[in-house]
Amino acid sequence: MCGIVGYIGGSNAVNAVVEGLHRLEYRGYDSAGITFLEDRELKTIKDKGRVAHLVDMIPPEIFSEVAIGHTRWATHGKPSHENAHPHHDCGGTISVVHNGIIENYILLKELLIKEGHKFVSETDTEVIAHLIEKYYEGSIVLEQAVKMAIDSLEGTYGLVVLSSKEPDKIIAARRASPIILGVGDKENFVASDATAIVKYTKKIIYLEDGELAVLTRNDIRIFNQRNIKVDKKISSITWDEKHTSKDGYPHFMLKEIHEQPGSFHNTLAGHIDAEEGTAHLGGMDNLFPGNSIHRIRRIVILGCGTSWHAGLLGEYYLERLTGIPTEVEYASEFRYRTPSIDEDTFVIALSQSGETADTMAAIKEAKNRGAKVFGIVNVIGSSVSREVNQGLYIHVGPEIGVASTKAFLSQAAALFLIALYIGRKKIVSYKEGMEYIAELEKLEDKLRAVLAGTEKKVKELAEKYASYPSFLYLGRGLNFPIALEGALKLKEISYIHAEGYPAGEMKHGPIALIDKNFPAFFVAPGDEIFEKSLSNIQEIKARDGKIIILTDEGSVIPEKLADDIIRIPATIEVFYPFLEIIPLQLFAYYIAVKKDRDVDKPRNLAKSVTVE
Ligand code: AGP
Ligand code: GLU
Repeated sequence: MCGIVGYIGGSNAVNAVVEGLHRLEYRGYDSAGITFLEDRELKTIKDKGRVAHLVDMIPPEIFSEVAIGHTRWATHGKPSHENAHPHHDCGGTISVVHNGIIENYILLKELLIKEGHKFVSETDTEVIAHLIEKYYEGSIVLEQAVKMAIDSLEGTYGLVVLSSKEPDKIIAARRASPIILGVGDKENFVASDATAIVKYTKKIIYLEDGELAVLTRNDIRIFNQRNIKVDKKISSITWDEKHTSKDGYPHFMLKEIHEQPGSFHNTLAGHIDAEEGTAHLGGMDNLFPGNSIHRIRRIVILGCGTSWHAGLLGEYYLERLTGIPTEVEYASEFRYRTPSIDEDTFVIALSQSGETADTMAAIKEAKNRGAKVFGIVNVIGSSVSREVNQGLYIHVGPEIGVASTKAFLSQAAALFLIALYIGRKKIVSYKEGMEYIAELEKLEDKLRAVLAGTEKKVKELAEKYASYPSFLYLGRGLNFPIALEGALKLKEISYIHAEGYPAGEMKHGPIALIDKNFPAFFVAPGDEIFEKSLSNIQEIKARDGKIIILTDEGSVIPEKLADDIIRIPATIEVFYPFLEIIPLQLFAYYIAVKKDRDVDKPRNLAKSVTVE
């Protein structure tokens, strides 16, 4: 979950690494640290707290041509100076930064202690430094010692190692945690995420599981698991540094909420077939050649958190447009059950980051059981994008705010495209397909209208409601996943308790919570079940609950039923979720700002969850 960055070359490595750490901080931010070379020895500065705190501790005159750094999201041992990375061997000549979990660290630690090694932290990571020390003797060079060490590790790692004995090289290795290499001119980079280095180079190499890289200022050599040198493709990053700045907004989250009309457009670009009333999806054509799409008996959607909520929308879309039984599974639960998956099951995996460990594990499980897996991913070249059989990038650009916003909208749009693609081959008529396409093409403007028409009002409501301790978010049908996602956004960034519920389930229990201090946020556009939603709202009103209703501009809400109403443009039923989510994101955002929360880096969270 953490951020890793390393530099070797002719410029000041400390500056490059600090710059990279700032950009990676969204991945984990409870501690930060850096190791560089000073008078031929390793010098490490680290502490709990943010990168800004680390920067205050680094003397300004420092110059080093090699450095490695880390921002931590603690798994083993609380955030503290001792537990912050980089970690060292006993001799202080080896420095290690690590992302992931070493599952057999207790056993290894006991063995190493018996052999005389002294540990100073509670982390699993520290065993790696001591293991390397153990093997790094005689004629063994650093990469060989690292290889011997990782061969004893169980668990996951993205690893970067520096030694003062061979300061002209950095070693990197990975197993299930991302590592990319940045190719520069007489300088090279390593990072857990391209955002760290895009300012310096757009040429990157993705390290695969089991590979180990040796970076010097002049070259990069990569070896596979069997120690054979491999030639790797250099890929280009298509976005630039601008995408990783706030661009005048006070927070990335607000910027990303505002980007949605454009990012939605980018997701659809090239995939609309306005002649046939369907979607062009090259990945689906490849996965299901000829008539093989008719073999699908079951669809399973996998994801976590916000991606799982997008999956719930997908379930509605796929069942409605294809008639194929569809289920959404928490990726984190999937492989601990006995999922009935076979070669006639079509599995769709959703992940913004493409690095979520639970989702990766679930994809592998589904593939082992013979299913075809299609990925809906944002980060290009990420682990999920390389693991799935085929897929679709949502192309929303880097999402830096820890709370996912623009990715959610585009994941939902991508799922609709898949539903339409399969649906048109099954039960959706040409006429119906053309109606969807016509409305899809209007949505970018409607998203702009939602932003322009609701933000001021939502901000006022956030002021009004910020002091309430709990919220219910309620919706029926397609609006239910939006209620869940609205509640998750509020919890994540404002730390207010919020629950999403199907509005019809209220009377089966949660209604006991309602009193005048418990606001309920209803997502109730003028769809087929609007009247039923109104009845549920009446039930809350009758118990003095505070009521906010999010509805469309045409729906008639009985007088005095709602305390507050937010209105969005009308659309067809299947697309209301796309418009509804924006006011809910804004509501959570402005409440969090009012409560002075760290909106982009909420406590205890990290952007990509690379541990199980
Ligand atoms: C979203 O706001 C969350 N921070 C989180 O639930 C996230 O959606 C989840 O961890 C899945 O991430 P992914 O899409 O990158 O796989
Ligand atoms: N497991 C390591 C630790 O707790 C690495 C955590 C991370 O990925 O930031 O220190």
